[in-house]
Amino acid sequence: MKHTLTAVLLIILCLPAASFASSNEDCLACHGKEGSKGYVDPVIYGASVHQAIRCSGCHIDVTAYPHRTEIIKVQCGICHLLGREGAPTAQARQYQLSVHGKAAQAGMSEAPRCQTCHGSHYIFDSKNERSTTSRMKIPALCSQCHPAEFTAYAGSIHGKELLEKNNLAAATCFDCHMEHRISNVNEPQWKLALINECGSCHSTEMDTYKKTYHGKVTKLGYSTVAKCSDCHGSHNILPVFYKESMIATENIQATCKNCHKNATASFAKFYAHPEESNRAKYPILYYTYKFMTLLLIGVFTFFLTHTILWAYRALREKMQSGKGGK
Ligand code: HEC
Ligand code: HEC
Ligand code: HEC
Ligand code: HEC
Ligand code: HEC
Ligand code: HEC
Ligand code: HEC
Ligand code: HEC
Ligand code: HEC
Repeated sequence: MKHTLTAVLLIILCLPAASFASSNEDCLACHGKEGSKGYVDPVIYGASVHQAIRCSGCHIDVTAYPHRTEIIKVQCGICHLLGREGAPTAQARQYQLSVHGKAAQAGMSEAPRCQTCHGSHYIFDSKNERSTTSRMKIPALCSQCHPAEFTAYAGSIHGKELLEKNNLAAATCFDCHMEHRISNVNEPQWKLALINECGSCHSTEMDTYKKTYHGKVTKLGYSTVAKCSDCHGSHNILPVFYKESMIATENIQATCKNCHKNATASFAKFYAHPEESNRAKYPILYYTYKFMTLLLIGVFTFFLTHTILWAYRALREKMQSGKGGK
């Protein structure tokens, strides 16, 4: 009897400890109390992408209370690199090879880790407005460590459209730099890939760019000729009618001169985006194209008629001389 009582008592005593290791409720009993140290809002956590993950899935060294004094930093890669529990892996693999990932591996404390951008407990898909990585929040997120680029970007057409007009179609930092693949900006691979990024939003200009000498050479994989950003800039892109724009009438010659040392004003008028069918935008090109086409048709018609008449005459002469019987 005494033994059974002790056994029951022991079981009862062990129960909370046994469930403690597996249940989020137990952790939240302390950490879910508003105002407590290390507060985690149970409602928001319960709606996040990791709602089904145990606290100890990330805090692998914290399975019971009291905690160890030195708690290790959460490594998202334990699931996201290995695909454990069905976690997506592409992003973590790309991140490892990026400038940020390499800097983190080298022990640079300022390098962003997964949680720097995504947060710790309230992680949502970036399409969700609550997400720290939702489109509108990206410039502010990156600006924590790249303030100069942010300031320049905010004054560009893309920055104005996104930040002032809430135009979500405008380019934000990761459209050009590719969030998890961020590479050194001197990398030729990235420079060439960027053309397609610009082109995915500006398809008309992409098509016309491809017709030019520069476009044909980059298509072959050479990054030394002019790419979109060499003429338009990067964080300072502005429409042609802004006098600060690199393609404005007063600056275009200097822009070409970065590479063509002897560029003259007339050389700079070279059509970067030739659209021979657009009379309003390219009147000279339009009429030149029309004139050249008409000239070509005219020349062909003239010579064709000429040849037919010539042949006719030659034939007649031959027949007449045959009749003459000399
Ligand atoms: C009995 C209350 C209690 C329970 C239950 C509890 N914790 Fe804590 N936890 C604390 C307190 C108090 C601190 C602050 C410790 C400190 O700063 O000295 C803390 C700190 C932490 C920290 C941060 C440590 C640091 O280095 O900043 C983590 C992570 C943590 N707890 C995770 C958990 C997890 C996961 C669970 C469930 C397995 C859990 N806790 C259960 C009271 C609790
Ligand atoms: C997706 C991974 C993940 C899960 C799941 C998770 N945490 Fe955390 N937690 C983090 C990260 C990241 C930090 C920030 C410190 C770090 O980078 O290691 C953190 C920090 C903490 C801290 C320290 C105080 C703070 O906010 O910095 C406490 C306490 C804590 N977590 C409790 C919990 C509790 C309780 C649960 C379960 C309800 C939980 N965590 C689930 C990733 C996670
Ligand atoms: C214990 C394993 C585990 C850990 C550790 C973990 N995750 Fe996850 N994560 C998952 C799983 C599983 C999913 C898929 C959830 C779903 O689709 O319902 C997921 C989904 C995500 C998503 C959303 C994917 C999408 O397509 O919407 C993001 C973002 C994310 N995790 C970031 C993180 C970050 C940041 C950390 C570290 C702070 C982390 N994860 C740590 C398992 C984990
Ligand atoms: C420099 C900031 C940054 C870092 C570091 C970062 N991410 Fe992301 N991540 C983003 C952004 C921005 C998006 C949204 C991209 C989009 O909307 O197309 C994203 C999207 C994702 C997604 C797809 C689901 C979603 O929310 O769109 C997953 C999964 C993910 N990240 C996991 C990770 C993991 C795991 C790590 C660490 C190995 C990590 N990320 C590191 C910025 C970052
Ligand atoms: C995610 C889509 C997106 C990407 C990527 C993008 N842009 Fe844009 N861009 C826009 C939007 C939206 C506008 C503003 C609306 C408009 O006028 O077309 C704009 C405006 C512009 C303008 C001013 C056009 C005008 O008519 O006022 C130029 C020039 C421009 N972008 C060049 C570029 C270059 C060069 C790149 C690549 C380095 C690039 N864009 C990448 C979406 C994008
Ligand atoms: C339209 C495309 C585009 C957008 C949007 C964009 N960048 Fe860039 N970024 C570039 C190009 C091109 C370069 C390389 C040329 C240069 O330095 O101007 C670059 C260079 C950089 C560099 C390296 C600077 C250096 O001198 O080494 C950083 C850091 C950077 N960008 C961060 C950002 C941040 C943060 C944002 C958002 C606030 C952003 N970029 C938005 C195209 C873009
Ligand atoms: C927590 C700080 C931090 C955040 C947030 C951050 N970065 Fe970085 N970033 C760095 C550090 C540190 C480096 C330099 C790594 C090195 O020098 O090896 C870097 C390097 C870069 C580079 C390469 C610059 C070059 O010289 O070629 C680009 C581009 C860049 N980051 C873009 C971004 C973008 C875009 C975001 C937002 C999605 C972002 N960063 C968010 C810290 C950060
Ligand atoms: C050789 C320099 C050069 C290159 C390379 C170049 N552009 Fe342009 N772009 C210009 C000039 C000059 C204009 C203004 C005159 C015009 O529309 O032809 C312009 C006009 C534009 C406009 C309309 C801007 C406005 O204010 O109306 C967009 C958008 C644009 N380019 C995008 C691109 C994209 C995307 C690429 C790469 C696929 C690219 N450009 C490559 C020089 C260039
Ligand atoms: C990033 C450097 C760069 C910029 C900026 C640039 N180009 Fe070029 N371009 C080249 C290179 C390299 C070639 C290859 C031929 C050569 O060596 O001259 C070339 C070739 C050309 C050609 C055909 C070959 C020739 O020399 O006649 C024309 C036309 C041309 N560029 C016009 C322009 C105009 C106009 C601008 C300014 C709106 C411009 N480019 C801006 C690098 C550039």
